[in-house]
This record gives sequence, C-alpha cells and structure tokens, in this order.
Amino acid sequence: QSAQTDPNMPFTRIDPVHFETDELTVPETFAWVPLIRWGDPLFTDSPTFDAMNQTAQAQAKQFGYNCDYTDVIRLDDLNALLVVNHEYTNENIMFPADQLANDLDRVRSVGRAAHGFSVVELKRPRVDAPWEVVVGGAKNRRFTTDETEFVFTGPAAGSDLLKTVEGDKVRGTLGNCSGGTTPWGTVLSGEENFHGYFRSAGTSATDKRYGLADNETVRGWEHQDPRFDARNAGYENEINRFGWIVEIDPMDPTSTPRKHTSLGRFKHEGANIRVDQNNAVAAYSGDDERFDYLYKFVSANKYVEGDRAHNMTLLEKGSLYVAKFTGNSPASEIDGSGKLPSDGAFDGTGEWLPLMVNGKSVVDGFSDAEVLVYTRLAADKVGATKMDRCEDVQPSPTTGKVYVACTNNSKRGTAGKAAPDEANPRTENRDGHIIEIAENGDRADATMFRWNILIVAGDVAQGDATYFSGYPADKVSPISCPDNLAFDSQGNLWISTDGAPDGIGYNDGLFRVGLEGTERGLVEQFLSVPRDAETCGPVVHDDEKHVFVAVQHPGEEGTFEEPHSYFPDYAANGARSITSEPNAANFAGPRPTVVQVLP
Ligand code: FEO
Ligand code: CA
Ligand code: CA
Ligand code: CA
Repeated sequence: QSAQTDPNMPFTRIDPVHFETDELTVPETFAWVPLIRWGDPLFTDSPTFDAMNQTAQAQAKQFGYNCDYTDVIRLDDLNALLVVNHEYTNENIMFPADQLANDLDRVRSVGRAAHGFSVVELKRPRVDAPWEVVVGGAKNRRFTTDETEFVFTGPAAGSDLLKTVEGDKVRGTLGNCSGGTTPWGTVLSGEENFHGYFRSAGTSATDKRYGLADNETVRGWEHQDPRFDARNAGYENEINRFGWIVEIDPMDPTSTPRKHTSLGRFKHEGANIRVDQNNAVAAYSGDDERFDYLYKFVSANKYVEGDRAHNMTLLEKGSLYVAKFTGNSPASEIDGSGKLPSDGAFDGTGEWLPLMVNGKSVVDGFSDAEVLVYTRLAADKVGATKMDRCEDVQPSPTTGKVYVACTNNSKRGTAGKAAPDEANPRTENRDGHIIEIAENGDRADATMFRWNILIVAGDVAQGDATYFSGYPADKVSPISCPDNLAFDSQGNLWISTDGAPDGIGYNDGLFRVGLEGTERGLVEQFLSVPRDAETCGPVVHDDEKHVFVAVQHPGEEGTFEEPHSYFPDYAANGARSITSEPNAANFAGPRPTVVQVLP
C-alpha cells in the first residue's frame, strides 16, 4: 500500500510498463472508462464517426483529435463540463493510405476541423457512477481552425504586426498544449508548436528565432488556404497571430475566445494563474524549446472574489517578466553528470527580469507591440536563463510554490550550446527535472525568488544520476520527461510524462509526488498509457477517487492499415476493464480518448 500522501486516495503503485505494450494500466483497485473518443458526437445532428468517409463538416461536430489540457469542471454533484483542447493531428493513422496519397483536400480540411477545442457537458446518475457525455448539451461547443473567430486583447491588439487582409480578428487556434483553469472559471491554453503550420521566407531574424522556414509544411495546408504561407501578399503577418495564450469561457457557448498579447508570443506550453494573499495575480508560462525561457505575467489589477466580469479582464494589462536563475554552488561543481554539488542541493536565487511594465516596453529598441509579438528576441536581450524546455508551470494551490517541469534537452552541454548550470545541471539531459520556486515574500508579484530542484528524473536501476529531494532513489518509481502537472486536494503534485519510451524505455505515465515532510520526493506511478501515447490532462478529483487523463497520440508510430495501438476499444485491463461502445466497423486503429479512472 502506498504511504500516506493522500488519505483520500490510497493506491498501490504500478510497475513501469515496457514501451511496446499496448495497454492502459491502472492500480489493481481501480478501473478505467473511455469518456469520449476522437470522432464521438457532440451534437444531436453530429454524423456517426466513419473513418473511411471523414469530412470537415462531420469532424466539426465531433470530438477532435489529440487532447492535451483537460479539465472536468464540476458544476454540481451530477453535472460537469469537460473542457479540452485538440493540439494536433496524426494524419498517418487517421486516414487510409489511399486517401493520404490521392485525397489531400479531404485530409487537410478534416485535419483543420480536428484541431482546436471541445467543451462537452457531462452528467452522472449518482456520484459514484462514471461521468457520461451529454450529446446535444446546451454548453457543448467545438472550436475549429477555419470557423472559430478569436479577438486579441492587450497592448499589441490593433497593431499592424497582427493585421492581415482579413483584418485584425483571427480564425482558429493551433498547437494548443497544456493550460490551466482560472479562479474565475475560464480556461487558458498555450499555442505551442504553431510554427509547423506555416511556410515562410525563413530569412528574417524573427523567422529564424521562431523556427520558420521556406519548406512545405507537414500538413500542406498552405496549398488549400493562402494564410498558411507568409510569402503570400496580405498574409505576411498571419503567423504573428499564433503563439499566444488563449482564454475561452466554457460557461458561455456564444462567447468570443481571446488571445492575450500581454503574455507574449512564443511556443507557450500553457499558463497557470496564482492569486496570492493580497489578491495579486500572476500567470506563469514556459516556452517549450531547448534553451528557451520561463516567463511570468503580473496583472496590473487585483483579483476580486465574485466579480467575474472584472476578473475576465485581468490578463489584458500588466507586466511581463522572464526568469534569470543564479546558482549558489561553484560552477566547477556542476559537471553535467547530475551529481549534487557539495552543498547538497541544486539551488539558488532568481530574478524576474522585466520586458513590459504595466503595458509598456522596457526593452531597448523594441516597441510595446514588438516585445509582445517577438518576445523571444526581447528576452534574448535581457540575459534570461536558457532552460531545458519548460513545459507546464504550475503554482501549488496549498503553498503558492511554483513547479516547473523541464522535460529534457538532448543538446545541453553539446558543442556550441549552453553548458550545464545549477538550474539545468545535466549534459544531454535525457530525462528532465522539476524546479521548485518560492517567490520572495510569497508574493505573486515578487521580482525575486528562491529555487531548488525537486526532482532530477531517471531510473536509478539503469544507473541514471537521479535526485528525489533526499528520498531514497531506489524506493521511487522511475520517471522520465515530466510534462503536464496538476495538484490534488492534499497538495501532492501529479506529473504526466511525454517521451519516456525514447529514454528509459517505459510507456509514458502519471505519477504522484509528495512535496512535504518525510514523503517529499516520493514518486509513485499511478497509471501507464498505451503504446506510443503521451499522458495528458491530468485531472485529480481525489475527494471522489477519480482521475482523468487524455491519452494523446496512441499508436502514432503506426499507420491506418497497420496500427500500433487498438486503444481504447479493446479489453486491455483484464476483468476489471470497462469497454466502450464497439469501435467503428471500418476502423480498428487507435482513437485519442479522455479516460476516467475510478475505483
Ligand atoms: Fe505539447 Fe511542450 O508539449
Ligand atoms: Ca547549491
Ligand atoms: Ca506538453
Ligand atoms: Ca511534451
């Protein structure tokens, strides 16, 4: 039996699962239920999923592909809202080879309709029953690439840098990775790998810094819609309209979603809000690129409990900072091996370096709009610390400390690249690490902080140099490539992973970590996802012993004809599994799915 990290939800941790295993594994006293799959209907007039005859019109009324950020917002005991994004598509397993070769209009238009967001009403007949989708629920909504209009807020809104021949509104949101639900009940999500959707001349400093090139894109949307090629007259700035934090209001299906320029433009993993004891509001966000930065936005205004209309404006004006980490051990003791320095900790102090103060640029040579649209270049000028791919950054609701998942960085310390430092201490960091930040004075608007590394990930059984805040490394579950983060009601951190198969050779999973007392650093694996999948969400309702994960890109290395995965429509969990409705008759392959785990 697990230790006392959560009296609400004891479980016996699972063993790591070999990376070619096509199973969803949960602790022996739990079962899992598919909640909603790619292609499932949202509306009363949604067509039935038909893998051989997909259309954009059908997909726009069905659940989209590859969910990352996930929340289940309980409205009362028997009603909830599922809010999820649809980060990207795996055309190689969504469509038969014949269509991939000969029916690209279909493939491309369905792909655009499978990106975006879904809001889905859930209900249950009693509190210990699994949640069920309400087809045709009044709040059900799909956001798609072609159809859904967003507006910009903040200092760069209205700037010429954000205008195209279509004006200054923008259609769609792309590459939505992690996110966060705000204290005022909206959902934030980060537009992460947006560069992959656009062709560009690739010659400017900004193009290069954002990874834009004069190459045909993977999905080839530029052949169908001129806005995906920045070389087309009138669409030079279309690409500037992606790479933002978006905020959607799941409570109002008629609301216009927003892209907040105040939080800057980069490969936003997501954003999470902290409201401190003085009602100051911070939004933390990582730029998920090797050697890119960690950011914090501080609202110009305070949170007002109960005033939703006011709180909805908090991300429109404020100050934007980028993090500089300084270690307290001699550089000579950070040798890249992951071995602790002689003071026994990777730790030190940090500074939030200002880029914008109350909506005004403080970076030489950058206008207000330029800091926000070309944030990476502005941050380069102020001496921010190059990080090992900041993924989710999440404040603890119980302590206010902030946790930064640095997923990995295969290039750290290699020729011509930044050397290891105390905040990113491993050469060719394969397994990643997690940094804990304590703001000075426990204030969300502090400009200085203290930090330490909570976990240096890896598998001690394979000889990796690991660290679990002093917890014996041979007593924890092996873990690699931390990505999305969440907290339970007891203040434990839950970590989902993406990339473990390539590193320590296990399927990705979900892990609980104690943060306080004798259980600080105790990592216990709760769940393992099927072959080729990444674990997303997660959502932990430990008061009800419920966990939700989005199983993203199951079987992504396979093909339509030769699937790597048959998730979720198999009975992979032995006698305890609960299968969904039979799979579509003409489709055997995997379907990205949001799963509920329950006793
Ligand atoms: Fe979509 Fe940074 O993971
Ligand atoms: Ca130290
Ligand atoms: Ca992620
Ligand atoms: Ca990731």
